[in-house]
Amino acid sequence: MKQEKIIVKLGKDSYPVSIGMGLIGDIGAAVGNILQGSTVAIVTNDVVAPLYLEKVRSSLKQSGFRVVTVIIPDGEEQKSIETAKRICEELLKNNIDRTHSLLALGGGVIGDLTGFAASIYMRGIPFIQVPTTLLAQVDASIGGKTAVNLPAGKNLIGTFYQPKAVFIDVDVLDSLKEEVFTEGMSEIIKHGIIKDRNYFGFLEGNLKGILSKDKNLLVKMISVSCRIKADIVSKDEKESGLRAILNYGHTVAHAVESLSSYKSVLHGQAVSIGMSVAGRIAVLKGIFPEKELEKQNKLLQDAGLPVSQSRFAADDIIKALKSDKKVRDGKVRFVLPVRIGKVTIDDDIDDALISKAVNSVFI
Ligand code: GLY
Repeated sequence: MKQEKIIVKLGKDSYPVSIGMGLIGDIGAAVGNILQGSTVAIVTNDVVAPLYLEKVRSSLKQSGFRVVTVIIPDGEEQKSIETAKRICEELLKNNIDRTHSLLALGGGVIGDLTGFAASIYMRGIPFIQVPTTLLAQVDASIGGKTAVNLPAGKNLIGTFYQPKAVFIDVDVLDSLKEEVFTEGMSEIIKHGIIKDRNYFGFLEGNLKGILSKDKNLLVKMISVSCRIKADIVSKDEKESGLRAILNYGHTVAHAVESLSSYKSVLHGQAVSIGMSVAGRIAVLKGIFPEKELEKQNKLLQDAGLPVSQSRFAADDIIKALKSDKKVRDGKVRFVLPVRIGKVTIDDDIDDALISKAVNSVFI
């Protein structure tokens, strides 16, 4: 099967996103056309390293690069300013200069952290994204949002800093635990709801093959998702308007994640629950037909994602919503669907309505 290529169009910062099978085995030749310097520093973690580091390293070496590796422990707690500093110190120790590049090999934590380190090390050096989870492949690796967390909340320190290229190898999805693959489906279904009704229909019609990891279907699906995200980012890189629609489901997701201390509920699962609440708010407001909400929730559930929760009290969710960073002038901002394929942004929703929707999902 041929490789798909999508361009994130951002003028002089434009870059290609390549999607296909077996890409990481040829990464050296592929980045040889993109990077100028002699050295690539791979940043990865101790779970991904045993699986893919050697393949990436030897391919880069074969193409004549000097390769440095920085391996950090796995886990969200590594997305910290301390780990970013540690990465920068390792780079310095290995004589990485501004002509050299970083390569993020891992999931969202590695991608966000490496992008952040690349954006601040010596005032910015080039970097490449090689995402190894479905979630990172269709979301975090594209669009240049980099970040580390603070104890007060997720992603509170960060930059917009675009990679030079993104390489998405669907073969790496074979090593994902089922629930980690499934959580990626949440952002994928989100893309259909916010932007593309036909894509939503494609997901409904091909779900069985997708969940059994049919590689041709995966390449097709990831390509459409990446194209949707790339189009949105191209139009609104810094999230001054349109890009915020990518936050569909994320208002409540952040509340769920903060209550679960970012551990027991995966991000994609929290987004799925969040889409269920946002969909219900839209129905209660009279802007989204009940039938459409049923269609959304059925696909989420068929994909193995939750649309309700009994673990958290509705009141705690509402409290957490108010302290979320998306609160502006005391209002909570929601992305709401008007039909599958189209959403709107609303920061003027009656508290009673939010409470009713939250109570219907947190049962
Ligand atoms: N993950 C949302 C965005 O990149 O804007």
